[in-house]
Amino acid sequence: MHPPRSNARASGPQWLRNDVKRSGNRLVAGSFDRFVNTARRLTQAGVLKEGHRAMTSKVAQFLADRQPATPCLVLDVDRVEANFRSLRDALPLARIYYAVKANPAAPILERLVGLDSFFDAASIEEVESCLDAGARPAAISFGNTIKKVSAIQRAHAAGVSMFAFDSEEELLKLAQHAPGSRVYCRVLVENEGADWPLSRKFGTTIESAKALMLQAGDLGLDPYGLSFHVGSQQTTTRAYEVAIAKVAMLFTDLTDAGVKLRMMNLGGGFPTRYRDAVPEIDQFGNAIMDAMVAHFGNNLPEMVIEPGRFVVGDAGVVSAEVVLVSQRDKADPLRWVYLDIGRFGGLAETEGEAIKYRIVTPHDGGATGPVSIAGPTCDGADILYEKSNYRLPLALRSGDRVELMSTGAYVTTYASQRFNGFAPLAEYYI
Ligand SMILES: Cc1ncc(COP(=O)(O)O)c(C=O)c1O
Repeated sequence: MHPPRSNARASGPQWLRNDVKRSGNRLVAGSFDRFVNTARRLTQAGVLKEGHRAMTSKVAQFLADRQPATPCLVLDVDRVEANFRSLRDALPLARIYYAVKANPAAPILERLVGLDSFFDAASIEEVESCLDAGARPAAISFGNTIKKVSAIQRAHAAGVSMFAFDSEEELLKLAQHAPGSRVYCRVLVENEGADWPLSRKFGTTIESAKALMLQAGDLGLDPYGLSFHVGSQQTTTRAYEVAIAKVAMLFTDLTDAGVKLRMMNLGGGFPTRYRDAVPEIDQFGNAIMDAMVAHFGNNLPEMVIEPGRFVVGDAGVVSAEVVLVSQRDKADPLRWVYLDIGRFGGLAETEGEAIKYRIVTPHDGGATGPVSIAGPTCDGADILYEKSNYRLPLALRSGDRVELMSTGAYVTTYASQRFNGFAPLAEYYI
């Protein structure tokens, strides 16, 4: 059976109204009790307290009321809007291109279109998802530096006119298949401080970026700007300051050489709170503006940011089930906890234990012990955490429902297609 891909995306608590219609007051009363219990449990665990933004009351209520089959992601689209607005407030001079790859679900894209967001697409399929959601072609940047000719042709034909590149061959492809387009060159910067670094695969050196941007004009393209990415889940504001200093120097150099650059793309990287605290978004905004003013003075270029994780990360919660708790050696307190979601069910960013999700259980507040946490497949790589000192309640048993907090970004699209027979992650957008 295919998992429920819910379209629970009507405005307001439409699903609640449907329950009322279908089942009358009795179910609603029971649902409310379950909601109170779940909310109490989550509050005890500290996740609903001020400062812990991981679980919205809408998500808690949905989980309590619907008890959807696990594993599933439940994502509050209102939280996406709130995150988008707080980023816009923190960096009012920057145009926000939502990085679609973080979560390309239509209800998210549609909400962001309504907020006049721009979009950073990694593939022609993401370009088309944005267009389907109502985005204007002029609001889409094709930000992947690695594009098939056919994808460039289709994007250009659809009216997309802003493209990233970081190599001569890609520049020549753009000149031939998207003539006249605005192009920006990605510069390699340090990713220190990022829990999910991207550095070595993308971006070029200052010297080659300079030569390529000079060449872009000669090829009939519009040398629009420069970009960088400080690595995803970037936990330091300093990374932006260092990158801006590096790229601003090239910007000035190219301007002096007669290239009419207008745009600085500061990429994504803004963090979501997982197990550890991260700086507030205002701190990133202030650091970035201070650095931009220090290097450009009153002559600020257009500023672009491409946030993904920050916009959707803490809007979603994965609800999962404990499949097995196993203690191999009575003398060893370590237990293995197997969930019905793992590396192949969408939690790919647990690779190297890079992203450490917070896990809420029905027994939080009770005594805990050390655990290794793994997924349900027969694959040795399907281990989430072995070295990160996770502890879970001693009372945890198979059949318990647990919540993995802040799983709205980079989860659904990483889920495999029926590896070991398991269905892809179900998704609810509310
Ligand atoms: C080009 C580009 N822009 C933006 C992003 C989004 O980054 P983040 O989710 O860290 O904000 C990524 C992430 O891989 C990216 O490759």
